[in-house]
Amino acid sequence: MAPPEKDFDLIVIGAGPGGYVAAIRAAQLGMRVACVEKENALGGTCLRIGCIPSKALLDSSEIYEQASKHLGVHGVKVSGVSLDLHAMMQRKDKVVKTLTSGVASLFKKNKITWVRGDARIRAPGKVEIAGVDAGTIQAKNIVIATGSEPAPLRSIPFDGDRIVSSTEALSFEKVPEKLLVVGAGAIGLEMGSVWSRLGSQVHVVEFLDKVVPMMDAEMGAALQKSLERQGMKFQLKASAKSAALRESGHVEVAIEAEGGKASTMMVDRVLVAVGRRPHTVGLGLENVGVEVDRQGRVVVNERFQSSVEGIYAIGDVIRGAMLAHKAQDEGIACVELLAGEAGHVNYDAIPSVVYTWPELASVGKTEEECKQAKVDVRVGSFPFLANGRARCMEERDGLVKLIADAKTDRILGLHILGPRASDMIAEAAVAIELGASAEDLARTSHAHPTLPEAVREAALDAGGRVIHR
Ligand code: NAI
Repeated sequence: MAPPEKDFDLIVIGAGPGGYVAAIRAAQLGMRVACVEKENALGGTCLRIGCIPSKALLDSSEIYEQASKHLGVHGVKVSGVSLDLHAMMQRKDKVVKTLTSGVASLFKKNKITWVRGDARIRAPGKVEIAGVDAGTIQAKNIVIATGSEPAPLRSIPFDGDRIVSSTEALSFEKVPEKLLVVGAGAIGLEMGSVWSRLGSQVHVVEFLDKVVPMMDAEMGAALQKSLERQGMKFQLKASAKSAALRESGHVEVAIEAEGGKASTMMVDRVLVAVGRRPHTVGLGLENVGVEVDRQGRVVVNERFQSSVEGIYAIGDVIRGAMLAHKAQDEGIACVELLAGEAGHVNYDAIPSVVYTWPELASVGKTEEECKQAKVDVRVGSFPFLANGRARCMEERDGLVKLIADAKTDRILGLHILGPRASDMIAEAAVAIELGASAEDLARTSHAHPTLPEAVREAALDAGGRVIHR
């Protein structure tokens, strides 16, 4: 059924976290909004095949691991713990369905028209739709929010079955005995953790000399140690060169380590997680002359405007970190600017989280970035081993690391490896957003006994007066 209206104030292409949030904010600001989405559900990669299903599996597999290995220490005796993978997957699918239908309800509430189909920009202000709602729609402004897709590895192409991207790794029908993960970024470590907890032998091959290379090196190294203790194996400075499917159904992967040392490995599945690439092909950008850079990203100015008037872009499809909340912040700022308001994004205060256990969360600069920028810093740190609440929870791994400007004491970066670091990092993001100093954080009362006391202790340590260590 074609949409009843053809004329809008704003057309958003893509209903991922960036697109659907931009559409809602624009509707709040009084615009008549259409959001084009070709999939059967709203929410984009993040809700359907990314952040949400992976966190559902991370939470479920964490509970399985706790029940199978870690309850005895609390005096809780359990026996006969077993895995019902089908039920775990069904729960994940239910979580996804609830949240994607939630976005559909929000569209209804805000009177946003969901145009179902593939969008192609014909001319500024004109978008052609192929699919359920085929036809042409128009608006003064267009926001491209088409996100990204898994980057393939030329030497080991995806086959959708044995050699897969994160999408298929969210739905293996049985636990692979041996899983090779290529790439120790967020996806590799998160999905590697899920399958390792469920019983796979997980081997991670990483091209660089460290895991999660975008994170502070000390924190990444501590996370690696913790994951190794949990049974994951890491091979750094190595890359997977080729893969061949054998008659047994196994995949034989050739790995080249440092100095050209070659080896092979026989595994059940290979997860290739070497990054994502922006989704711009087929959008008709060449029809209107929208400039894209060498990585295929839409080039935008600080108001998110592309090289063509009336065409904007946000999220994974432009420069910067590929994070759902960064896309949401940009979507809101973009449409607020369109409405004449003062939208802005503070890129220094965008947190980033790897949802392993312990979780690794970070906001602001790493110590390496500060060194590179020749900024004198003072570093404070505090281990969870010395935090009362963490001990009550039997959580001994991890630390908080705070980096402050040595001259002004302003917090430049805060990094947390620990239980629920994803929740704790919010305090640090607020501190950086408000321009707080380490002293400000050190003077802020933190409830006792709680995990965030470790954040305060790291701030105290930066001032040379840590209490509990
Ligand atoms: P990534 O860019 O985070 O990590 C890819 C890793 O693969 C890097 O460490 C890189 O050095 C390595 N690599 C590249 N080529 C290689 C090769 N040939 N052999 C071995 N290693 C190789 O990419 P990832 O994990 O695929 O994630 C994609 C995007 O999605 C990232 O931008 C990430 O930030 C985002 N994402 C964020 C999540 C989160 O915030 N929790 C979760 C999932 C994804």
